[in-house]
Amino acid sequence: MLQYCFGIDIGGTTIKCGLFQTDGCLLEKWEIPTRIEEQGINILPDAAKAVLDKCKERNISLEEVAGVGVGVPGPVNHKGEVPCAVNLHWAYVDVAGDMEKYMGLQAKAGNDANVAALGEAWKGAAEGAKNVVLATLGTGVGGGIIVDGKIVAGAHGAGGEIGHANIKHEETQACNCGNCGCLEQYASATGLVRLAKEQLEADSEESVLRMGELTAKAVFDAYKDKDVLAIRIVERFAEYLGGALSIFSSVVDPEVIVLGGGVSKAGQALIDCVEKYYRKYAFTACKETPIVLAELGNDAGIYGAAKLVLEE
Ligand code: BGC
Repeated sequence: MLQYCFGIDIGGTTIKCGLFQTDGCLLEKWEIPTRIEEQGINILPDAAKAVLDKCKERNISLEEVAGVGVGVPGPVNHKGEVPCAVNLHWAYVDVAGDMEKYMGLQAKAGNDANVAALGEAWKGAAEGAKNVVLATLGTGVGGGIIVDGKIVAGAHGAGGEIGHANIKHEETQACNCGNCGCLEQYASATGLVRLAKEQLEADSEESVLRMGELTAKAVFDAYKDKDVLAIRIVERFAEYLGGALSIFSSVVDPEVIVLGGGVSKAGQALIDCVEKYYRKYAFTACKETPIVLAELGNDAGIYGAAKLVLEE
């Protein structure tokens, strides 16, 4: 009997794994590091091993496993192939095909943020909503767009690639994708740190950010403590993100905008500052659209990946 399935969410830093019952109950979750060196050749074998080791550890036979869903930080076409995943250093990879080969189990693949939107719509902040924009703010910026209850994956699997929406044409530094001026360069965890470095160089004021490791969390912590430089940095970040979300709203007109990914751990402070700029720039009809935190937090991806299998 098919009693179990796995949801795997491959991120730029960690691979999140979840063992689920086929009724959608999460039994166990764990993480392993993402080895992006050597063009990321170890990533899928590591993920497959994590699944097989867990089956062994829990005495689960492969006949009991319905399949494995995998969220990948890159465009994923309907066959489960990825033409490139810039933050994993991947060129073309047949994710679903390779995973099936490594595990001897059925595998489905989807874009990580599309899959997170699926998770949030299934059991989280977007439950019941038919039109949703979800942005994940992590190593990159991902997007999951739901229109009339369906994920918009698009012709090349690049539907919802909001992180590579070009929002600053005069940018001279290149994004990992090769273009200059992508939203991801300002609104991801790495983008926020980049903005922080720029601001610390440009201004001479004292700031706690001049000491210790400069991370997205440190910037938001300092912002909450009213550090003058951190306020300047977060305001810039929020203007880029809030402004971009207002553009996506003009295309999708969602019932709700959901913010997830590591940066969303900043909580209500993130919502408040992004909302301020969203409301400033959004078209009148969508000015009051609620912006909320992902309820499943970092688990949205594993839930959505499991749902890819369970939907079959
Ligand atoms: C990738 C997206 C992904 C996002 C978040 C972006 O750089 O292009 O496919 O969803 O990062 O991981």
